[in-house]
Amino acid sequence: MTFTPTSLLITGGAGFIGSSTVRRAVAAGVSKIVVLDALTYAGHRINLGDVMSAVTFVHGNICDAALVNGLFAQHAFDSVIHLAAETHVDRSIESAAEFVQTNVVGTLTLLDASMRAWAAPNANTERRFVHVSTDEVYGSLGPTGHFTESTAYAPNSPYAASKASSDLLVRSFHRTYGLPTVVTNTCNNYGPRQLPEKLIPLMIAHALSGKKLPVYGKGAQVREWLHVDDHADSLWLALTQGAAGESYNFGSGEETDNLRMVERLADTVDEVSGNPKGMSRALITFVEDRKGHDFRYAIDSSKAKAAFGWQPKRTLAHDLRAVVEWYRDNEEWCRLVSSDEHSRFQAAYYKDREGTGGAK
Ligand code: NAD
Ligand code: TYD
Repeated sequence: MTFTPTSLLITGGAGFIGSSTVRRAVAAGVSKIVVLDALTYAGHRINLGDVMSAVTFVHGNICDAALVNGLFAQHAFDSVIHLAAETHVDRSIESAAEFVQTNVVGTLTLLDASMRAWAAPNANTERRFVHVSTDEVYGSLGPTGHFTESTAYAPNSPYAASKASSDLLVRSFHRTYGLPTVVTNTCNNYGPRQLPEKLIPLMIAHALSGKKLPVYGKGAQVREWLHVDDHADSLWLALTQGAAGESYNFGSGEETDNLRMVERLADTVDEVSGNPKGMSRALITFVEDRKGHDFRYAIDSSKAKAAFGWQPKRTLAHDLRAVVEWYRDNEEWCRLVSSDEHSRFQAAYYKDREGTGGAK
């Protein structure tokens, strides 16, 4: 059975994946879309650009129960896609408090509001609460194996622990109150509008401006990369076809170690900028490794393939170059999202890390 959302709340819609998800929902023709976003250092109105006029944008915090309850009363949501979160592992290592506040308390606030609004005894309307999570909740893999939906949670970073906590709260609201929840666990994303403090946009932005490319440790860690618009498609599938109470893993199958990814990005920047071959690779600098650095994430997507015919449309081979070109062509965006707070974090985080990394 397919669910057709008519009044949809998207949290974190001014962020990287959120803004692609809003575009997906607008393209699907949902009649009412409300975006709730606190516009932290990671959220920017500019990310919504052309679709801003198609949504009701609310600048506010998901931890604000009065605001969230009021929005449910005002808009009679039948669906939620919950993306708002603190998302950067390195920031969670520096300070975890905000991660617990937004990711755990904020998720609880939304679950409470949904449970209350959807508890009316005569309500037989179909509803869905999609909670967007990560493969990092499963912990770290060795060189082989994949995470399935039944892999035990073993989060290692404070970020992953906060996401795991929120996933478990979602599970409890389904089991205890029958809230029609769907949880998605997805691998690392790449694409336009990702804040340049995550691996791919950071390396592109640095290579474009001739700055060093800081690889943690020896760059041997492996990540699986999914294009952000494929992620948005997967969330749409989860919302419209996901079974209440289920969780689904969405991956791309495209694994690569960090050093190979950075070399590939450096070469692509050189290609699109007309630089001499190898110019950006010379910027690679090995820096102190991340504390508790997970070695490898890899997802088994067979459940989503069987349930929805899940198959990503984009590949690194075909789409990474366009992403590099997007950052090259959107210097103004890069400047606008580089707030003082973002710059301060960058400066503090990378200070003293150089020269302490592994050798090539
Ligand atoms: P992001 O950091 O780019 O955006 C987060 C958004 O949430 C921002 O717009 C920010 O302003 C907003 N926000 C933060 N705290 C808020 C609060 N208290 N109230 C309201 N809004 C708040 O993150 P992203 O990379 O787009 O990730 C979105 C979701 O997807 C997160 O839940 C993340 O855990 C999950 N996820 C991300 C990835 C990835 O590779 N980026 C992979 C799997 C899952
Ligand atoms: P990141 O984009 O922060 O995503 P996550 O930690 O959620 O996987 O990092 C991806 C990988 O890249 C991770 O193994 C850490 C590594 N990394 C670097 O080597 N250098 C960097 O400057 C950054 C930001 C990440």
